[in-house]
Amino acid sequence: MAHHTTTTYDSPIHIGVIGGTGLQSLTGFTHVATLKPTTPWGTPSSPISVIHHDSPTSGKPIPIAFLSRHGLHHELAPHEVPNRANIAALRTLGVRTIIAFSAVGSLQEAIKPRDFVVPDQIIDRTKGVRPFTFFEGGMVGHVGFADPFDPKLAKVVQKCGHSLEGDGVRLHDSGTVICMEGPQFSTRAESKMYRQWGGSVINMSALPEAKLAKEAEIAYQMICMSTDYDCWRESEEDVTVEMVMGNMKANSENARRFVGAVLNELSKEEHEDLVLAKHYEGSMKFAGGVT
Ligand code: ADE
Repeated sequence: MAHHTTTTYDSPIHIGVIGGTGLQSLTGFTHVATLKPTTPWGTPSSPISVIHHDSPTSGKPIPIAFLSRHGLHHELAPHEVPNRANIAALRTLGVRTIIAFSAVGSLQEAIKPRDFVVPDQIIDRTKGVRPFTFFEGGMVGHVGFADPFDPKLAKVVQKCGHSLEGDGVRLHDSGTVICMEGPQFSTRAESKMYRQWGGSVINMSALPEAKLAKEAEIAYQMICMSTDYDCWRESEEDVTVEMVMGNMKANSENARRFVGAVLNELSKEEHEDLVLAKHYEGSMKFAGGVT
């Protein structure tokens, strides 16, 4: 198959997908190119795979850029992910809309392992060791982050998730992600505290990815896939890597169907403004500048 693909792609690609643990590639789609961009912030986690998805309305092939957050072989720990290179590389290809997948621990009884959550809020529990902004070195900028995810994109994702409920996809329409530093999992006291804070799920990947997408004026929505009950629940075993990987593997077919449904919907012409993130144009405010 590789000899049919290219290492360049000449048209802008507006839609990006970032795969997390357990979703390291997008199989079942037509792969047309493998891109290896470099950016002023380094090289992305993985080569970017361009796939073609036929628009259900126009029949035209729509290009999608796929990036594996933890590398092609899951070799990057959460604190090693080159988030700025990832977002900058996608933005340079033309990406204005990102669907990002992440394995999460559940902090709520009702969010069972293998359920999906479309989060609408984040609480930052990273430790400030990850590079988290494009604005430095003389360029001072501030973006609003009250709503870290894109509400219009969230609606599309919710609709698609619910359309798959008959096929065994269970979806929660909202939730707060606690993004912790890791790579160690939480203590039991922390896990219980996060529940008191109103956390729904916990991961190590929502930040700074969501912040950088906002700075780059990209519409961004994460889809969380629950793999465990972390360590707060008395009747349940404490989270282990095997638990996370096992549930992700078991759920990967659902994840693929979910992303397929979302790409189908986003490829419809009626979503053109959303896919081009027109509502973000000029949202960046500079408080100074490079002279
Ligand atoms: N990713 C999957 N499960 C997790 C957990 N319990 N804590 C942090 N990140 C996770």
